[in-house]
Amino acid sequence: MEGDQLRAGGQAPAAELLPPPLEEPRPGRVLIAWRRAPFPVDWALAFGRLAPLHLEVGFGDGRFTVRRALERPDEDHVGVEVSNVSVQRALARVRREGVDNVRVAKVGAAFALRQLFGPHSVRSITVNFPDPWPKERHERHRLLRRAFFELAASRLSPGGEIRLATDHLDYLAFARSEARASGRYTLPAVAPPPAVLETKYALKWREQGKPLHYQVFRLERPSDSHPPHLERPPVPHAFMTGPAVDPSRLPSDAKRVIAYADAHVIVHEGWRAFGSGERLLFRVTVDELELTQQLLVVALRREGGELIVRLERFGDPLITPAVRGAVHAVVEWLLEHTELRVRERNY
Ligand SMILES: C[S@@+](CC[C@H](N)C(=O)[O-])C[C@H]1O[C@@H](n2cnc3c(N)ncnc32)[C@H](O)[C@@H]1O
Repeated sequence: MEGDQLRAGGQAPAAELLPPPLEEPRPGRVLIAWRRAPFPVDWALAFGRLAPLHLEVGFGDGRFTVRRALERPDEDHVGVEVSNVSVQRALARVRREGVDNVRVAKVGAAFALRQLFGPHSVRSITVNFPDPWPKERHERHRLLRRAFFELAASRLSPGGEIRLATDHLDYLAFARSEARASGRYTLPAVAPPPAVLETKYALKWREQGKPLHYQVFRLERPSDSHPPHLERPPVPHAFMTGPAVDPSRLPSDAKRVIAYADAHVIVHEGWRAFGSGERLLFRVTVDELELTQQLLVVALRREGGELIVRLERFGDPLITPAVRGAVHAVVEWLLEHTELRVRERNY
């Protein structure tokens, strides 16, 4: 950061604006650092071998994941979860049981399936007791909807399966109708493996006397159109010119919400940073359908007199098209509340 201020003459500080360096997954490491990994993840490297790959979505406390992995030592099992607590629980279980064919990532399912896996590389996707989103207006939050079935048709191997267990009859009917609408799956009647009936939620619903339903969706017509993996673009930034910003004259509550590339971008607040020089930090949320990120955007006066407004590397942000909107939203915020003008936008 200091380096930015020392650099003269409006020249972009190249290192700060380069895409973040990528790191191949480390063999033997259970928790996958996917934000830094090249997409798709090299699973053969992550597991240290080439074996049939299975994905589990929303593994909760991980008891199914570990049990499956122990039952099937010749297969590799990847679990994805959005809950930090669940990830920690599952990691502890994996270590306790000493299984070496499980890898875990804290990431949403649709994003994971699209970015972390190559075409036709996954044998099965297990979804045990997904959040049902029972209200009609929340249907778009359901995982097993048409778009997911389409995506899975590009990532599952031919004959691969999505395996759903649910206590929720509406969700079951919804998933069946979405799968049928895709025209790519058959819906064979298959009995659930015992481990499915003994997950934490299976036991909970059974105790409450709820019936459990199981449905396999078998991929018969794989898709050859593969949604591309995310590129890692340079750090989005803009240059602004104009008089010094006096933070004491900025509005105290100027939250701003904008729509950008199918995402909501929210500028929550800004502060003047410690140290010399003019440096403002903005806290921004970028909420995409598959991914929510909390980001910092910095506006920093450089020696030539310009301000550079750019995404901070802090927190390992993933630069998606919508994340460019974070810089855009801050630029718009500064245009509205200060006398700064834009010289150049690079996002
Ligand atoms: C009802 S719990 C079921 C947990 C576990 N499968 C079981 O049967 O005990 C649903 C889980 O899905 C996770 N989840 C919800 N949405 C998700 C998503 N988009 N990607 C990954 N996990 C998700 C939640 O955090 C939660 O742990």
